[in-house]
Amino acid sequence: MSAPRLGSPHVHHRLADSTNELAKRLAERGAPHGTTVTADEQHAGRGRQGRTWSAPAGRALLVSTIVRDLDSADRLLPLAVAVAVCECCEAVAPVTCAIKWPNDVWIERRKVAGILVEGRPQEGWAVIGIGLNVSTRRDELPAGLHDAATSLRLACPEPPPLEPAAVFGPLMDALAARLADPPGRARDAWAERDALLGERVAWNGGEGTAAGIDIDGALLVDTASGQIALDAGEVHLTAAAPKREV
Ligand code: BTN
Repeated sequence: MSAPRLGSPHVHHRLADSTNELAKRLAERGAPHGTTVTADEQHAGRGRQGRTWSAPAGRALLVSTIVRDLDSADRLLPLAVAVAVCECCEAVAPVTCAIKWPNDVWIERRKVAGILVEGRPQEGWAVIGIGLNVSTRRDELPAGLHDAATSLRLACPEPPPLEPAAVFGPLMDALAARLADPPGRARDAWAERDALLGERVAWNGGEGTAAGIDIDGALLVDTASGQIALDAGEVHLTAAAPKREV
């Protein structure tokens, strides 16, 4: 059976507050699975953990898609979305993507896309919000992020003439395919792209060495007092102090 289509109906705004907010309002009013909101620009774009998300007008794909009838594997949805974004990027440009737990998409250790999944699990729906830097130039990246962020254009030595609208279809197809995966398959695909595996990580409670993810998508970390699992909703990773040689 083919995966249920995403990206239709599709509402596009030149300027939105946040496509996630608009999609959530549509979901609350009963909009069907696959309903998608895009915008050229957001004036109140939101990121994970209360952060803001900004992108210059017309340079990033800013998209929020409603998914319904979620099942018990939905806790892995944010991870499956990251895999789909990687696959989409690699389909439209000569790049290789990795994922920084839980779902930042990296090219050469710079963030090319962010994902914010919000919803009402008890009502069986979620909104998948994705901000994917497509044709952003270096001087257009947000201040302070010139070394930490990239775009598909910046990551290619001979940039393909890509515009955000051209990436919409491939992204919807990649997402639909990953959402149809049996539980566990997207998790395995995520693990193959784990950018932190074996690296020192730190958070607001300690530090250790990243050791993959558990069946719920929590980050496993080997610490001096044993292995622990960090929950994406609660933990903010920070730069770890360099590992001491012993
Ligand atoms: C993050 O990395 O913190 C997540 C960023 C998610 C940004 C996207 S852009 C489209 C959608 N609308 C929003 O307000 N946020 C998401």
